[in-house]
Amino acid sequence: MINKCLFPAAGYGTRFLPATKATPKEMLPILTKPLIQYGVEEAVEAGIHTMAIVTGRGKRAIEDHFDTSFELEQQIEGTSKEHLLSEIRSLISECTFSYTRQREMKGLGHAILTGETLIGNEPFAVILADDLCTNTPDCAQGILSQMIKVYEKYQCSIVAIEEVPLDQTNKYGIIAGNPVDGTDNIYRVTDMIEKPDPKEAPTNMAIIGRYILTPDIFNILKETPAGKGGEIQITDALLEQAKQGNVIAYKFDGKRFDCGSIDGFVEATNYFYGKTI
Ligand code: G1P
Repeated sequence: MINKCLFPAAGYGTRFLPATKATPKEMLPILTKPLIQYGVEEAVEAGIHTMAIVTGRGKRAIEDHFDTSFELEQQIEGTSKEHLLSEIRSLISECTFSYTRQREMKGLGHAILTGETLIGNEPFAVILADDLCTNTPDCAQGILSQMIKVYEKYQCSIVAIEEVPLDQTNKYGIIAGNPVDGTDNIYRVTDMIEKPDPKEAPTNMAIIGRYILTPDIFNILKETPAGKGGEIQITDALLEQAKQGNVIAYKFDGKRFDCGSIDGFVEATNYFYGKTI
């Protein structure tokens, strides 16, 4: 069983300055919903109700979002606008939200390690809210739900992957692996490299911001030296598990938007707007 979902949300979001000067990037909205709310909804759809959020300075708006605003509730009660709060109200009542702060920005691996205090000794999911994932008409299940099924079968760490154009391998963790059980969407990972140049990339299979991690990852992260960009990389820690045959890469069904980039953010906005008209 996967009971907890970790959201690393301490990054500065410099690509969206000045919007992210006083607003966390996870709170930027696609239409009327902040990015992190889409992530929490995906976790709930996967049966997870315990949210663990790694924040940093200037991120208090996230805590306020997942809390009751009595003034607003009072103002809006009984008016025609009350329904606008119904989704967030039900998330708040169904879930618990716990927070811890990452004091220094030392990379995604370090952010995940900071979350150990909220996770403890159990397997857990990780969602990077700026990778916004959604179902498509031919697949009704969310990506995290799909990954949990894969976890239930293989009982090891799982990363979600997508094929990317070769000239973009330097934006992602890239894996190499062998297909398992005659499938064409599940691979036993043999190698992984953080943001390789296209010349050094073993494949074009990129990790996207969804992981299921077994808790031994925390001790591995404690020993993982700074890697690409001088940061502690989750990709490097996962490689240690992969060397023992303990990482599966899963090519998911669905659609992903890179909302950490302006292009992806606009594309997501247009996609979700298109669904409302
Ligand atoms: C992080 C990871 C990278 C992964 C990516 C997915 O990079 O380090 O391996 O492919 O998330 O979004 P970031 O986008 O934080 O630079």
